[in-house]
Amino acid sequence: MTGAELGTEPLDRMLSIEIARVTERAAVAAATLRGRGDEKAADQAAVEAMRAELNRVAIDGLVVVGEGERDEVPMLYVGEVVGNGTGPQVDIALDPLEGTTICAKNLPNSLAVIAVAARGSLFNVPDVYMEKIAIGPGYPDGLVSLRRSATENLEALADAKGVPVSEISACILDRPRHAQLIEEVRATGASIRLIGDGDVAGVIHAADPDETGIDIYMGIGGAPEGVLAAAALRCTGGQMEGRLQLNTAEKRQRAEAMGITDASRIYRHDEMASGHVIFAATGVTDGNILDGVRLYKNRIETHTLVMRSFSHTVREIRARHYDRSKFGI
Ligand code: FBP
Repeated sequence: MTGAELGTEPLDRMLSIEIARVTERAAVAAATLRGRGDEKAADQAAVEAMRAELNRVAIDGLVVVGEGERDEVPMLYVGEVVGNGTGPQVDIALDPLEGTTICAKNLPNSLAVIAVAARGSLFNVPDVYMEKIAIGPGYPDGLVSLRRSATENLEALADAKGVPVSEISACILDRPRHAQLIEEVRATGASIRLIGDGDVAGVIHAADPDETGIDIYMGIGGAPEGVLAAAALRCTGGQMEGRLQLNTAEKRQRAEAMGITDASRIYRHDEMASGHVIFAATGVTDGNILDGVRLYKNRIETHTLVMRSFSHTVREIRARHYDRSKFGI
């Protein structure tokens, strides 16, 4: 049976709450180190907390998008088996601290994120860049595409939304590599929200323009983050395309070793995350759709989104954890 066929069976919905616990733990661990200027320490704390909680969950999980290759990182590496081994066979994409720099600087939108899907249904990508374009739900399929220019995409989106292009807002990572893109977008009259980091949040924000004021995500970010964002869009609705940036022989070889033979192929979000998906994200720092962790004397508060592609349900869980010792703090 292929992964896609496997993925036709929804995952047990009770798994959502278990998965939410996993991101809560990671977010709290990272939050204790917010604003300390130490990306590595915050990331390490989040990784350890996520792994410990994940290993309590009744799944036979395989990390397909993780912290890095097995020989590079000690935990949550690609290929690591996680969960307590008693439940369904699933693929896991995770980022215990998405936006390490944001967290270190205590800026908006760092998250703990995870996606769980039937075995074989998450895109196994090397840690390279991916060009991405994403919009929210309610638009015709293929309205925007990496095959077209930024100008064409923005005009098509404005037309479909029934507004002038000047009322469209694009989210783009603030990087020198985007200078030309930024110039082109500005020339259309559209506005840009330039973000310092965190394009998983950037894509999720584009799926909820009423709440965030962002209509479209554009530009090049991490490929692992692309798979996580695709999984989120499978749940919220919306559409995304991704194209790996395999611009050296070494990167092409790494991709080939993972079964990617067409270096220029464009992947849709439902190819990057096929089958049924559960996605959870807990805010580490305050953000546009999630509040960050609150650390009080007698409790910890967390704010989490948990989504299921099967039902297209997006739940917000605001949790008060009165036993701080459970978090080791
Ligand atoms: P980290 O959490 O690994 O620091 O990633 C943050 C991030 O901004 C991602 O959201 C994004 O996909 C990627 O980095 C962009 O990479 P770069 O910083 O090299 O432009």
